[in-house]
Amino acid sequence: MKTKIIKISSRNPNKKIITEASTIIKSGNLVAFPTETVYGLGANALDEKAVRKIFTAKGRPTDNPLIIHIADYKDLNKLAHALPHYAKKLINKFWPGPLTLIVRKKSIVPDIVTAKSPTVAIRMPNHKVTLALIKEAGVPIAAPSANKAGRPSGTSAEDVLDDFKNKIELILDAGQTHFGLESTVLDVSKSTPVILRPGAISKEALESVLKITLDNESNSKGKVRSPGMKYRHYAPKAKVILIPKNKTINIWQEEERLIQDFHHKGKTIGILATLPKNTKRPKADAVCFTGSTLARVGKNLFHCFRELDKKKVDIILAESVPEHDIGLAIMNRLRKASAKN
Ligand code: TXA
Ligand code: MG
Repeated sequence: MKTKIIKISSRNPNKKIITEASTIIKSGNLVAFPTETVYGLGANALDEKAVRKIFTAKGRPTDNPLIIHIADYKDLNKLAHALPHYAKKLINKFWPGPLTLIVRKKSIVPDIVTAKSPTVAIRMPNHKVTLALIKEAGVPIAAPSANKAGRPSGTSAEDVLDDFKNKIELILDAGQTHFGLESTVLDVSKSTPVILRPGAISKEALESVLKITLDNESNSKGKVRSPGMKYRHYAPKAKVILIPKNKTINIWQEEERLIQDFHHKGKTIGILATLPKNTKRPKADAVCFTGSTLARVGKNLFHCFRELDKKKVDIILAESVPEHDIGLAIMNRLRKASAKN
């Protein structure tokens, strides 16, 4: 199969292109498409055989469930049992948008989508292309991030092509995604809401509506409630070392020390730079600067991981960011990527 890439406007998606993509979805095949967070690799969520193709293409363990994307509030009732009142408040405020809700599923949802869990993850994305595609296909679309399992999520059509060249039929290319980080996954299947994966909607924003708990695992300790969080994740090929940010560590000195140490061992080093350009930063073999606001770091984090991989560095030194707002999600991804290094 030869993968086709078609450019599409995110402001005014071309109807013909949407029809072409929706035909592929309806025929039980895969389309990669942009969302406001990252690219998704989508299939008809109600077609078990089609959904299985996602797991195969990604090399994703089948115990890791998928998010179903909807374009109409009515679809929520088709897929899920009644929601608690507080969840409706969140939907009113954050949909369409990067908030995924874990809800109790109805039997129409195939087991393959939910990894046999009695709950299902649902979100309504805030992207004209995604919404038009779901509407035109006439079915909800199951989609994980469009990347090989364990790799950094795809935030551009080039990233998706790098991972899925000639493995999927079509990539809709609407340029780099807005947030660059995945949606926030919030469990609303119980009496109190719990964040299972911090993401593009911050805990602070959610707390403007109601009190929210952060699952321990989201800080990468304790019992796993979101199956996907147990895997080493979001990781470039290079080994990632997270440089902590605290008063006792001078970041430049620490980078200098690590660079010398690894150069001695014959390793090449890239820096994932989140701090503003600074002449004090020691010289590495490659540097990818994300920009220094939390929004820019979020947007370019996975992009920089992939860029540094293309430079074939052995080690990536990643500079930490403060853990508020989207910084919580950024640090979650950096910790996952660096695993135990
Ligand atoms: O922004 C996003 O969320 C992107 C775009 C494409 O929508 N999608 C995405 O999907 O990041 P994925 O599959 O890469 O991550 C989904 C996460 C995984 O950690 C998975 O374990 C969790 O959601 N999840 C899915 N269904 C779940 C369920 N029923 N219970 C708990 N966690 C669930
Ligand atoms: Mg993913």
